[in-house]
Amino acid sequence: MIYLDNAATTMRKPSCVVEAVAKALTSLGNASRGAHEGALNSNRLLYRTRGKLAKLFGCPGSEQVIFTNNSTEALNIALSGTLKAGDHVITTALEHNSVLRPLYRLNREGGVALSIVPADSRGCIDYSEIEKRIVPSTREIVCTHASNLTGNLLDIDRIGAIARVHGLLFILDASQTAGAVPIDMAASGISLLCFTGHKSMMGPQGTGGLCINGDIDVEPLKVGGTGVQSYLEEQPREYPTRLEAGTLNGHGVAGLSAAVDFINATGIDVIHAHESALARRFYEGVVRLPGVRVYGDFSSRDRCPIVALNVGDVDSALVCDALARDYGIATRAGAHCAPLMHRALGTEAQGAVRFSFGYFNTMEETDAAIEAVREIAGR
Ligand code: ALA
Repeated sequence: MIYLDNAATTMRKPSCVVEAVAKALTSLGNASRGAHEGALNSNRLLYRTRGKLAKLFGCPGSEQVIFTNNSTEALNIALSGTLKAGDHVITTALEHNSVLRPLYRLNREGGVALSIVPADSRGCIDYSEIEKRIVPSTREIVCTHASNLTGNLLDIDRIGAIARVHGLLFILDASQTAGAVPIDMAASGISLLCFTGHKSMMGPQGTGGLCINGDIDVEPLKVGGTGVQSYLEEQPREYPTRLEAGTLNGHGVAGLSAAVDFINATGIDVIHAHESALARRFYEGVVRLPGVRVYGDFSSRDRCPIVALNVGDVDSALVCDALARDYGIATRAGAHCAPLMHRALGTEAQGAVRFSFGYFNTMEETDAAIEAVREIAGR
């Protein structure tokens, strides 16, 4: 199979990730729930990994790295933990439902006002529209680092600067970029960073996290066992315990930790350059094919390695099926949990076929995908 669905999950993982998970399965006890070697192994692993992640993302304190199951959970914690009735929040039309649905619910049931900055037909926003929406009750800006549909990157330095000037929190959904595009929370003014382990981090599913930059109060989404301060009726207040009720996915974190080692040893810049070169080659190969329409802003060189397209007015699911059945190429069709982005692109009915590249993809696979699109478009 030629796997070009890396934006959904990377399927080929570095071998060190596979080995780390296998080893962890029989060597980790339950962190903070015992003083024997197994439990201590687990604590050591978690704290070492917090440190690595803090370094990777420029998060000032490793105790402020919270493990979650994925970015959806991290975003739910970040949003529901910082917004209250009467607050106003600004987001964009590029968002995934992992941002939109928690916001819609807070809006409907929690008395939180919501503004959404629109995107144009290339999936770009006008940054001045963010500032225009700021009112006295605005508490935060939340946005994705990159659209999971078009691959367009948002200028997070610019958004961070707007948040800083107006005293707002800046929550970043780094689902599509963590591990593949350099991120520095401190330099970009990111207050809360939400990431997942199973996409460009190349780690296991069921891993991810929330990084908290400085003295920010985030109320817990779930409360429960922590292994410490068991006679307290309330959840302990210190991080990371405050936001980590229940046994953590230590086995998954072992894989994530190995994935960070792999990323560091390879170099984020090397990973980003390779993936970008594949996506650019694919784009150049398909953009002028008769009947093929490509979405997104390719005038910017710095993008996520994603190319979404349609062939004529054929339903995207049919093209996606033909790619899988006739060419063994895995892509994702449909709505990609990004309803506002599809609306902006005018692809609500048709969806789009998304090709997303990963570090282990090759030029040969990319060329095979170009040929497959050429043949399908020619039918
Ligand atoms: N959010 C993932 C995607 O974009 C699953 O496909």
